[in-house]
Amino acid sequence: MHVRITPSILNADFNNLASEISKVASDSDLIHLDIMDNIFVPNFTFDFDTAAKIISDCPIPIDAHLMVADVDRIGVEYAEIGADSVTFHIESSENPEKLIREIKKHGARAGVAMKPKTSFSAISNLIDLVDMVLVMTVEPGFGGQSFMEDQMEKVAQVRSALNSSDRDVWLQVDGGISAATIEIATRAGADTFVAGSAVYKSEDPAEMVRKLRSLAVSQVNNS
Ligand code: DX5
Ligand code: ZN
Repeated sequence: MHVRITPSILNADFNNLASEISKVASDSDLIHLDIMDNIFVPNFTFDFDTAAKIISDCPIPIDAHLMVADVDRIGVEYAEIGADSVTFHIESSENPEKLIREIKKHGARAGVAMKPKTSFSAISNLIDLVDMVLVMTVEPGFGGQSFMEDQMEKVAQVRSALNSSDRDVWLQVDGGISAATIEIATRAGADTFVAGSAVYKSEDPAEMVRKLRSLAVSQVNNS
């Protein structure tokens, strides 16, 4: 299992994003970009043009996490503008199979996300199509919330389904990931970790990314 750390810039300084991203770029696998529309979740982050600029300026790949209504249309647009990975919420898509195909057609990886109350069965039929499954470990909408350990059973269910597939599908967790929780999520089967406030509220964001990686890698090596 290969560990990936994908810092979320949700809690970074939006007025100095280039410098905020440069703090972690050389230690991170992708930058996690949270797109919220104030409809699917009660918060707003970036309009499309601003997001497009962040994506084109970012020195490392972008992992776009779309918390938006009308994702069947918007998801394709994010693939078109060069997001390397585009994750949509199953709760928001009318035609997930078609959306996954279209995201991939534009050369991006396609991810499917589940809110905490959504069960694994809602996405189990997509395991053979997607490139990433995102198990939310908080209610989507805000950074800085507490990790929901009760989601680990779902992480383990996804891991067990992925183990019987020979495709390279990533298993991401997002919400409350920190030095105190990343090992729990790794043991449950996650390999790709979003961390927002743990990274950007730390004195040394790059050092925190390295610490999170080393904690996860040592769990993988012990299993
Ligand atoms: C929440 C977002 C997360 C958020 C995580 O809806 O999807 O990516 O930035 O923030 P932390 O790591 O602070 O929980
Ligand atoms: Zn996110």
